[in-house]
Amino acid sequence: MAILAANWKLHKTTAEAVAWARAVKRSPLAHRAEVIVMPGFLQIPAVAAEIAQSPISLGAQDVFWEQSGAYTGMVSAAQITEAGCRYVLVAHSERRRYAAEDDEGAHARIRAALAHGLTPVYCVGEDMDQRNAGGFRRALKEQYDRGFGGLCADEARRVIVAYEPVWAIGSGQPATPEQASEVAAAIREGVGARTGLLEGLRILYGGSVAPDNVGGYLLGGGIDGILVGTASLDPIGFLALLKAVVGNG
Ligand code: 13P
Repeated sequence: MAILAANWKLHKTTAEAVAWARAVKRSPLAHRAEVIVMPGFLQIPAVAAEIAQSPISLGAQDVFWEQSGAYTGMVSAAQITEAGCRYVLVAHSERRRYAAEDDEGAHARIRAALAHGLTPVYCVGEDMDQRNAGGFRRALKEQYDRGFGGLCADEARRVIVAYEPVWAIGSGQPATPEQASEVAAAIREGVGARTGLLEGLRILYGGSVAPDNVGGYLLGGGIDGILVGTASLDPIGFLALLKAVVGNG
């Protein structure tokens, strides 16, 4: 089943979040993909209550690696799990940019998530300078080599990788399905060499995905699902995305 994950970033009041969940959970299409919604932390409890007994899963946008202690402002994997989340984004490019998260921190976050039964969605992606300079391979290799660190194959299988080229996020300029497939193959090979995971790594594509281009990514090119920002915010638009995913995935 294809994955369709909605990363709301810093959008939506609690009332808007609940209204979205109410609209989307009613759709019969929600049973035909793994739909994941990732609200802001403060909206998670209300969305969790609204989607209870529905096929929609919940994810958080970040996690800290320690479980408790003097870490002002941080949120732990145990707290996220307790709130009803099954997934958590790790090292989204906006966290890398605005909160100085790095690959070592990503590794610690991935381990903390796995230790609490959360599925980390590890975000990797090159910026345009890196793509122009040496291609995507070197930039991405550093990210997945450090992020996956010493994970064994069984641990690596429980991580989802989201390929989100920085130049494609929110720009209206998505990677082509061919580019996404090429990168996905390189990631699978690299993670396999690093962890021994030879098959079963799930990879999402994200970056300017919209209803009219989403289908192309799921046509057998090694992309297992989509991570979407802007086009996920309006419930009608999200249902259009879901329809396209279910039709092609
Ligand atoms: P956009 O869909 O707005 O390009 O954002 C993608 C993204 O960053 C999802 O995590």
